[in-house]
Amino acid sequence: FITHSVEKYLELFHLPQEKLKEVSARLKRDLIRGLGKHSHHRAAVKMLPTFVRATPDGTEKGDYLALDLGGTNFRVLHVRVVEEQQRVLKMDSKICAIPQEIMLGTGEQLFDHIAACLSEFLDSQDLKGQTLPLGFTFSFPCEQKEIDKSILIRWTKGFNCSGVEGRDVVQLLKEAIRRRGDYDIGSVAMVNDTVGTMMSCGYRDQSCEIGMIIGTGTNACYMEEMKNVKRVEGEAGRMCINTEWGGFGDDGSLRDIQTEFDVVVDQTSINPGVHTIIWFQLLKYKDLLLPPFSNEQLFTQRTSERHVFGRNRSTNILTELGVKWDPVDVRVVRLVCDTISSRSARLCAAALATIANRIRVNRGLDHLKTTVGVDGTVYRKHPNFSEELQDTVRLLVPKCSISFLVSEDGSGKGAAMVTAVAQRLALQSR
Ligand code: BG6
Repeated sequence: FITHSVEKYLELFHLPQEKLKEVSARLKRDLIRGLGKHSHHRAAVKMLPTFVRATPDGTEKGDYLALDLGGTNFRVLHVRVVEEQQRVLKMDSKICAIPQEIMLGTGEQLFDHIAACLSEFLDSQDLKGQTLPLGFTFSFPCEQKEIDKSILIRWTKGFNCSGVEGRDVVQLLKEAIRRRGDYDIGSVAMVNDTVGTMMSCGYRDQSCEIGMIIGTGTNACYMEEMKNVKRVEGEAGRMCINTEWGGFGDDGSLRDIQTEFDVVVDQTSINPGVHTIIWFQLLKYKDLLLPPFSNEQLFTQRTSERHVFGRNRSTNILTELGVKWDPVDVRVVRLVCDTISSRSARLCAAALATIANRIRVNRGLDHLKTTVGVDGTVYRKHPNFSEELQDTVRLLVPKCSISFLVSEDGSGKGAAMVTAVAQRLALQSR
């Protein structure tokens, strides 16, 4: 009986293929709107130029630092790009925790903390005397003016540091390093994690022209024709566009698929009105579960890891949450999680289909063969998310053959590649 009443709610999450096609058509309209010269200020899908104009060609080399902020872990990295036939990329990295008080504190505290982590890492690598270029994976929506000038539009994903929105993140980082005065960095390249992922996969597969993240948040980037990028001067070649597709629906365009649960999750989140469709988060709806879960127990910001449920994991997690459960609860939790993750996978598939098809049409091709570089805990660890996503994309865009490449060691390597490619292009244009 209980499972039956739960199923009634879960029907709301069902998205048949016809609906996915409609969703895909709406995203296509939003992509075009976002690319427009002025409309992006209001556009839900922001389509942000990244100033990344080329993917790696294999000739890049050198030593780079990288920072990776915006996913589950904040990382500091040292990447050595070696130009060899096997294309060796050597890497050392360190995870550095960002306490909740800092995620919600002042911008100065956040950047001081980042600069301190980098300082410690440079010491441990014996790199303090050098001035290395730095790729900064900063995975929040930014209006980029140049590769090294990037204004934060708004915080997402549980961050909310004061005095950073509207400011240039490169400047804030440099100021924090200057305040310390114990080391210096060279030129900085700002990179979204989607772009870092695309670039790090691009080093292995040169047809990688889409980057996709399905983890703490979801987003994608792809190589767009410059002539369609109205906000950047120049018509020739391509530029990578950070779609910020997590904002899809924030203008109400997905009201027909938004459930009451999406509304509650959005309204109780730290950034209400931003990312209003739960693509991934674990549903909490306490009346469905016996005994009732409290908001704090199930509804945390970082649920992406938690909802990767198998039966044992469900019981473990319920126990870990300190909830008394019986076998019916475990079945309900699994059913709810399966349904929501399946909706997420299908929504991501519809969104990816839109992008692949756009690239195909942009290039006037009957058939497009392309590669997507992917990262994120949900994609990597969920037992059947990636399969459902891939199967659904295939059905939605039969004219595109899409290969999926999971990024090897995260996006920091890609951030270093962006810095390296920017240097190569700068040298070539001299
Ligand atoms: C990591 C990348 O591997 O994946 C990050 O290095 C990215 O840049 C992250 O943000 C996304 O996944 P998650 O699950 O950590 O949010």
